[in-house]
Amino acid sequence: MADMGFRNVIASMDPLANSRKIPLLNATAIGESADTQDDHLIIPDHQFSSRACISSHDQYLEMYNRSIDDPSGFWSDIAASEFFWKQKWDQKVYSENLDVRRGEIKIEWFKGGITNICYNCLDRNIEAGLGQKVALYWEGNEPGFDSSLTYTHLLNKVCQLASFLKANGVRKGDAVVIYMPMLMELPIAMLACARIGAIHSVVFGGFSSESLAQRIIDCKPKIVITCNAVKRGSKVILLKDIVDVALTDSAQNGVSVATCLTYENESALKRESTKWKEGRDIWWQDAVSTYPTTCTVEWVDAEDPLFLLYTSGSTGKPKGVLHTTGGYMVYTATTFKYAFDYKPTDVYWCTADCGWITGHSYVTYGPLLNGASVVVFEGAPNYPDPGRCWDIVDKYTVTIFYTAPTLVRSLMREGNEHVTRYSRKSLRVLGSVGEPINPSAWRWFFDVVGESRCPISDTWWQTETGGFMITPLPGAWPQKPGSATFPFFGVQPILVDEKGNELKGECSGYLCLKSSWPSAFRTLYNDQERYETTYFKPFPGYYFTGDGCTRDKDGYYWLTGRVDDVINVSGHRIGTAEVESALVSHPQCAEAAVVGIEHEVKGQGIYAFVTLVDGVSYSEELRKSLILAVRNQIGAFAAPDKIHWAPGLPKTRSGKIMRRILRKIASKQLDEVGDTSTLADPDVVHHLISLADR
Ligand code: PRX
Repeated sequence: MADMGFRNVIASMDPLANSRKIPLLNATAIGESADTQDDHLIIPDHQFSSRACISSHDQYLEMYNRSIDDPSGFWSDIAASEFFWKQKWDQKVYSENLDVRRGEIKIEWFKGGITNICYNCLDRNIEAGLGQKVALYWEGNEPGFDSSLTYTHLLNKVCQLASFLKANGVRKGDAVVIYMPMLMELPIAMLACARIGAIHSVVFGGFSSESLAQRIIDCKPKIVITCNAVKRGSKVILLKDIVDVALTDSAQNGVSVATCLTYENESALKRESTKWKEGRDIWWQDAVSTYPTTCTVEWVDAEDPLFLLYTSGSTGKPKGVLHTTGGYMVYTATTFKYAFDYKPTDVYWCTADCGWITGHSYVTYGPLLNGASVVVFEGAPNYPDPGRCWDIVDKYTVTIFYTAPTLVRSLMREGNEHVTRYSRKSLRVLGSVGEPINPSAWRWFFDVVGESRCPISDTWWQTETGGFMITPLPGAWPQKPGSATFPFFGVQPILVDEKGNELKGECSGYLCLKSSWPSAFRTLYNDQERYETTYFKPFPGYYFTGDGCTRDKDGYYWLTGRVDDVINVSGHRIGTAEVESALVSHPQCAEAAVVGIEHEVKGQGIYAFVTLVDGVSYSEELRKSLILAVRNQIGAFAAPDKIHWAPGLPKTRSGKIMRRILRKIASKQLDEVGDTSTLADPDVVHHLISLADR
C-alpha cells in the first residue's frame, strides 16, 4: 500500500491540542468536539506528486510569494494567457479599499476588461478543439436514466435559451430567477443568462414558496425559469406549485413577473397534470427549441454583475451576495485547476446543487472554463441504495469526486460493503466542502473510498469568497486529516483576537482576510451598508469571515466553525434568526431562540427553545405544527431537530438572550452552564434543564 498510495506517518500528539480551542468565541459544538484534530501526516505519494500541477511545497511557495508580492503581475499573467478578452483591462489590474476607516469598501478586478464568461466556457473551448468532448453527463434520479451533451451541443442549447430570453425582453443587467432541480437545463439556464449579460439568481429547489417569494421581491426578475416537478429518491416534489404560490405572493407585494418558463420533467410529472396560468406560463420544450442555435455574445465589463446568490446571515433577512464577471471567472477556473490537480482526461463529479455557491463555482463555471467533463446528478445519493455514488463513479469513470462531510458521514454509517462492491479505481482526487470534516470521516473517505490512494482537497471557502480560499493542493504537501492546510494563491488569512490584534504563529482566533482576491463578492445587493457592517466593521482593515480558526505549529489552518449566529446543517448555511422568525410567525409561539448542536451526520442540528403564548400548553401536535411553520417558511432542510419547551428564556437584565447558556443546555453540558448570576431570573435555567427531555 505504501508504494501505491499515501504514507500514513504518525506524528507525535500535540500536547497543546486542547488549548487550541477558541474559548472566547461563540464556537459551535462541532468545533469543540473531541473528533476535531488529528496531527498524523499523510505524505503524498511520489508518483502522484511528480505528475501534479504543483508538485512540492517549494513550488507552491514560489508561486504563493509572487501572488502576494505582485498580485497584479500574478493574476494578469493568468488572465491574459488562459482566457479570451475582447478588450484588455485598464492599466490597473485591481483596486481595493478594505478599510472602513478610509471610506467606502470597494473592490475591482480587471476593470475595463471586456469579456463574457459563457463565451470562455463554451465558444473558446470549442475553438480549441473540444467541440466533440462531453461537457455534461447527466445521471437521472432513477438508475438507467441518463444523457450527455458535448461542448458543441451545450453551446447550441445555451444559445437557444439565450435567444428565447432576449426575445422575451431580457436585457443586459436584468435579473432572472432560476428555481430548478439538477437537470442539465439548470447550468444551461445559468450560461444563457451570462451569454446575454443578464444576472442570474439561482434559488435552491429545497426552499419554500415564501423564501422564493422573498428573493423574487428583492431582485425583481424579468423571468422565472423552473421545472414542473422533480423526483428525489422516491418522492415527487411539485416545484411549479411552489413557484405559483411565490409568484402570487410577490405580485401582492408589487413585483409581477410576466413570464414563467417551465421545463417539463416528464419522468416526474406529465404536463397534463401541471397547474398552468395561461399568458404567463410557457413550456420550455415548446418554446425554446424554436429559437436559433446561435446567439451573439453580449460583451460585458469585468466588473459587470454575473449573479446574485442569497445566503444566510445573522439576521432574518437573506443577503443577496453579488459576484461580478472577470475576477470570478479567472479565480474559479484557477482554483479548480490547482486544487483538484485537473487534467484534460479527468471526469469530474461534484455532488452539490447549483442552488448553492458550490454548484455555481464548481459544477458550472470552474470546470467548464477548464474544458472539463462534468457529471450532473439529479437524484439522492442514497437512492436506490447507499452504493449509488460509487455506481455513478464506476459508470462514468469519475476521477475527481467532490462532496460534503455530511454525505461522507451518512455513507460511512451504512457500512463499507456498499463502497467496496464497486471498483472506484478511476478515482484519483477527493474533495470536501461546506463544514469542517472531522478526522474520523476524513479517514474513512481516504482509506475506504479512496483506498489510501487519493488526496483529499478539504476546501474552505464561502458564498462570499466565490472560490477556494484555504485548500490543499493535491500532491504538493502532507495532509493532516481535518485541516484545510494552506491558503490558495493570493489569499492572506490572518487570525485576530477579539480586539482585532493580529495573532502570530500557533494560535486560535477569528479568521479574517487581509487583502482582496479576484472572486471576492463586491457588495450585498441594494445593501452596501449591511455589506460593510457585517464583513468589514468587526475588524477594521480586514474582511471578517465569521469563522473561528486555529493555526498549528506547522502553519496548518484548522477551521473550527462559525462564531456568529449562522449554522451549517448538512453543509447548508442557515441563520438561527431565520428559523426563529419562522417559529414566531406561528400564532401560538411567543418567542424562540435557536442554537446549533453537534449532529452525528448533519454536522450541526437545529435546536429550538420555544416560549408559547400565555394559556397555550405544549403538545406533540403543537410541536409538529411549529416544525411545519419552519418547513413552510424556509424549507424542509431547515426543520428543527428538537423543540425544547421554554416557559422562560435566560435573559440578562437588559433583555439579551444568553445563547451561551442555551447552547450548553442543548448539548447537555450542564456542568458547563457557567455563571448565571447576571440573569434577570436565574431560576429559568433550572426550569429549562428540568424540561429537557420532554
Ligand atoms: O463555516 C464555513 C463553512 O461554510 C461556511 C460558508 O458557507 P456557504 O457560504 O454556504 O458556503 C459553503 C460552500 C463553500 C464557512 O463560513 N465551510 C465551508 N467549507 C468549509 C467550511 N468549514 C470548514 N471546512 C471547510 N472546508
